[in-house]
Amino acid sequence: MAKVLVCVAWPYSNSAIHLGHVTGSLLPPDIFAKFHALKGDDVLMVSGSDQHGTPVTVTADKEGTTPEVIAERYHAINKKAIEDLGINFSLFTKTHTENHFEVVHDVFMRLKDKGYLYTKTTLQYYCPKCEKFLPDRYVEGTCKHCGNERSRGDQCESCGTTFEPGELLNARCTNCGTEPALRESEHFFLKLSAFQQELLDYVADKDYWRANTQLFTHNWLESGLKDRAITRDMSWGVPVPVKGFEGKVIYVWFEAVIGYLSASKEWAKSTGDPDAWKAYWTDPDVRSYYFLGKDNIPFHTIIWPAIIMGYGGLNLPYDVPANEYLTFKGEKFSKSRGVGIDVPSILKKFDSDLVRYYMAANMPEGKDTDFSWDDFDVKINNELVATLGNYYHRVLSFTHKNFGEVPVLTTEVADKEGVEVRKAIGQAMEEMDELLSTCQFKKALKTIMDLAQFGNRFFDAVAPWALMKTDKEKCGAVLNLNLELVKALVIMSYPYLPRSANQAWTLLGNHGKVGKGSWESIESPMVSGQKLQLPKPLFEKIVVEKESNMFQEFSKLNLKVAQIKDVSDHPNAEKLYVLKLDAGKDVQLVAGIKAYYTKEQLIGKKIVYISNLQPAKLRGVESQGMMLAAEADEKVFVLTPGGDAEPGEAVNSGMPQGEKQISFSDFQKFVLRTGHIVGEGEVDIGWAVKVKFPEGTKVPSQVAVFLSSADAKEGLPLFTEKGTPITVDGELGNGAQVR
Ligand code: MF3
Ligand code: ZN
Repeated sequence: MAKVLVCVAWPYSNSAIHLGHVTGSLLPPDIFAKFHALKGDDVLMVSGSDQHGTPVTVTADKEGTTPEVIAERYHAINKKAIEDLGINFSLFTKTHTENHFEVVHDVFMRLKDKGYLYTKTTLQYYCPKCEKFLPDRYVEGTCKHCGNERSRGDQCESCGTTFEPGELLNARCTNCGTEPALRESEHFFLKLSAFQQELLDYVADKDYWRANTQLFTHNWLESGLKDRAITRDMSWGVPVPVKGFEGKVIYVWFEAVIGYLSASKEWAKSTGDPDAWKAYWTDPDVRSYYFLGKDNIPFHTIIWPAIIMGYGGLNLPYDVPANEYLTFKGEKFSKSRGVGIDVPSILKKFDSDLVRYYMAANMPEGKDTDFSWDDFDVKINNELVATLGNYYHRVLSFTHKNFGEVPVLTTEVADKEGVEVRKAIGQAMEEMDELLSTCQFKKALKTIMDLAQFGNRFFDAVAPWALMKTDKEKCGAVLNLNLELVKALVIMSYPYLPRSANQAWTLLGNHGKVGKGSWESIESPMVSGQKLQLPKPLFEKIVVEKESNMFQEFSKLNLKVAQIKDVSDHPNAEKLYVLKLDAGKDVQLVAGIKAYYTKEQLIGKKIVYISNLQPAKLRGVESQGMMLAAEADEKVFVLTPGGDAEPGEAVNSGMPQGEKQISFSDFQKFVLRTGHIVGEGEVDIGWAVKVKFPEGTKVPSQVAVFLSSADAKEGLPLFTEKGTPITVDGELGNGAQVR
């Protein structure tokens, strides 16, 4: 039994965590921690939301709200998403807490007192037009290292290079595009250069680190360490605890890494023993592991160790298993650039164990790995369901049906088949032990799946269905061995698949849960006579609806059917009407279609309108949305349901609907076209796009289609909740734009 400290990179609370976070930094430590728990070790696993810095303020600016609102919103969302994924932290906290501020101030002041911090007046980016300093993400430019033209001010996302102000080429203010000036400001610097030798000594014996971790670190050390500014001209963050620095905060990276320590202290307080953290941080025999994505490497192998060295008395990271990136169609998952799939969304569709399985099987351990929905269902259905799930179910259902309890293992079978089975289990245990102790998660999962494969072959070879007719005692004995294999698989798979492992554990007739110390029970024989529970399949085959991913963007819209009740002229605008609608509730719109429709033509007509558009005043009259109309060759016709549809009915095309408000410029990015049906499931919108209506739909000759891009080959036709297709109120040329 040992103690292990597991530290997990803190996700920024500026967006919902996505699959890149899961496979890159969140899932590996959870597997690791659960494995250590199985072995009986005491694990302290901490992380939290990284709530400060420009990642959060940029999002707040965009939404026109405060950083607190954003930081708290996504902390709650992410904490829940992490729990829903079956990831169990000792503590998942956040950086905007009193405790964190205190610990950061303590570290800051101690480093300052020891002479590792100094102040210097330096040049910082300043936007003359916005009249603001531009820290970190408020500037963009070209990375001088890799040429990435959209590098951030403090770090290039493509190659990981970090920058000081002035180093970016073609810098511009992200708010207004102006080229920033450099303006003087006083800041604290961390004397990194003072730690050069100590850091070299520290990494000297780290030949067990992953190749990418070593490479990044050695490159940094070899190019010589530069002192780094650790304060910023902004107000959101941990204040600088020094007179004269009011209005400035500590750089998010400097304080966030201290979160590992502050979270450990917070955890200790919560246990009632405020000193409990020390056992994990000061005993040199306790190993600490830091799990993160590759862009975080230098902060954990150089800056954080330097801070620890300066502070004194705390353990340095033992291992820093960094992952490469998860990509989506070749691009890095990145919320800020709208690439990827977030955790709350995928968990709405798929069980957490399925997500965990796929993410573990595709972990970008040695190289970037692409996520694809095609691969997702193949791996789930052909590996998890067909191999592990199938084996569990065959053994459990056959035994339950014919014996109802764990049958007796005869000496004869124990000495023959039993030897073979136990050898396979023993080997798998050894392999897993070796692989997981060295953070090779993908391979260890393969070991488990190979054992499940062995189980299937063994089950076929002993053919219990035949024995059942000829030799019931022997049948029971081989089933006993199969149950032992199932139990071994249940325990071994628990770090990866906790939900199903615990369920299968119960089906085996056990009490309690798989967890601390369970590793030992892998090799204990099954207790004959133990009642089995009525089994049910632990995983089910999935069908991935490919279109729903392609058309995810559509779900930002909230379209509804409405009926026009009244039309009047706009008091101050010649071309506009004011429409009163029944949309399940009363709605007022201002619409520019006076040139195309008389009032009489409009009254009573059913239309489609966007109900989540930011309300706007048009020439002094409020418009609570926008009516959809298609325009081509100077003709304009409104979109209308081609059949019976109720006012208020959603036009959702079988997708979830947007709840958040969108702006008019957001709407303009959507590609909506109309066209005529030309063949089975094909619409001509200037070119042929494929569309699929719900089965049995009477498809009108003219339809409206949403496209994921302006040159897409597949489209999402508009239809209501109840399946009524949307058509056009009059004949238009193909490819008419909807606006
Ligand atoms: N928030 C950072 C990121 O997502 C990671 C911070 S790790 C910490 O890249 F330790 F510094 F918190
Ligand atoms: Zn770069």
